[in-house]
Amino acid sequence: MTDKKIILTGDRPTGKLHIGHWVGSLQNRVNLQNSGEYENFIMIADKQALTDNARDPEKIRRSLTEVALDYLAVGLDPAKSTIFVQSQIPALSELTEYYLNLVSLGRLQRNPTVKTEIQQKNFGESIPAGFLIYPVSQAADITAFKASVVPVGDDQEPMLEQAREIVRSFNNIYGEVLVEPEGYFPPKGMGRIPGLDGVKMSKSLNNAIYLSDDSDTLAKKVKSMFTDPEHINIDDPGHVEGNMVFTYLDIFDDDKEKVAELKAQYQHGGLGDMKIKRYLIDVLEGKLAPVRERRNEYAQNMDFVMNMLKEGSEKANAVATQTVQEVRHAMGVDYFGKF
Ligand code: TRP
Repeated sequence: MTDKKIILTGDRPTGKLHIGHWVGSLQNRVNLQNSGEYENFIMIADKQALTDNARDPEKIRRSLTEVALDYLAVGLDPAKSTIFVQSQIPALSELTEYYLNLVSLGRLQRNPTVKTEIQQKNFGESIPAGFLIYPVSQAADITAFKASVVPVGDDQEPMLEQAREIVRSFNNIYGEVLVEPEGYFPPKGMGRIPGLDGVKMSKSLNNAIYLSDDSDTLAKKVKSMFTDPEHINIDDPGHVEGNMVFTYLDIFDDDKEKVAELKAQYQHGGLGDMKIKRYLIDVLEGKLAPVRERRNEYAQNMDFVMNMLKEGSEKANAVATQTVQEVRHAMGVDYFGKF
């Protein structure tokens, strides 16, 4: 292995990725990848996706290729990053099982992200055991590659805290084998971009703009955006806070002077919602058209995409297997030497 710092990150394949994923995490990954300073592992977490979709494996299978296409579309590059599939790396399951003994049930139940998800998913009394323990399997994902940098959205901080606790307790008991990871978070204000309606952008809320949306869909979605309900006539003074069009311009328009000018005009009165939405459509088209084009090109070549995942998984498997051998050795369960 190299002396470079190692990055491991990933996404659950439960659907296509949207522009919230893009500004919240994918852009960071692409920049880190292109800096050339890291060894990059990017994982499609199909096993984690199954923890709450066990009855719908077809969705996960379909989403796997969608996410792979989204990765390629935003500029993740198999020549610079190892892109792989979680379920194809058996070592991750073995590590998870060892780590589970270092974590209490109470600690898992207190994980704030898991707690929120449990409420949102309406599991009631039937929380799948695999779901409750997914933070432990995530610690396995990270440590199997000895990753020290984990670029993720803000909601993943509790996962990293839990992973660090597992690393500390493992190293304490069995000796220094594992590496403590740090999160690498999006720039301030980019962590949670709201959806078209002003609520958190999410597949399930049907308020997302996808990287794969064509230009008509994009335009239609922008036209449906929540603006200022009090801005009825063009000449009325309007509000820019909480107005999604301006929220998006703040995030996506590089011409900050122009945005300031438009805001002033909107607040003063005389700038219509349709006009400002058309402007936003142009801004988003400018950013998303190249992504969409690249995505369409790769979608014509699914053999390439599947082969990339296969080769990435083989490479990742070799690395994770090496770590699991060190772990067995540290724990003294390598009775017969290497397997
Ligand atoms: N939990 C992440 C998500 O919300 C996916 C994931 C699985 C992950 N394992 C990981 C992210 C390891 C970073 C590191 O989609």
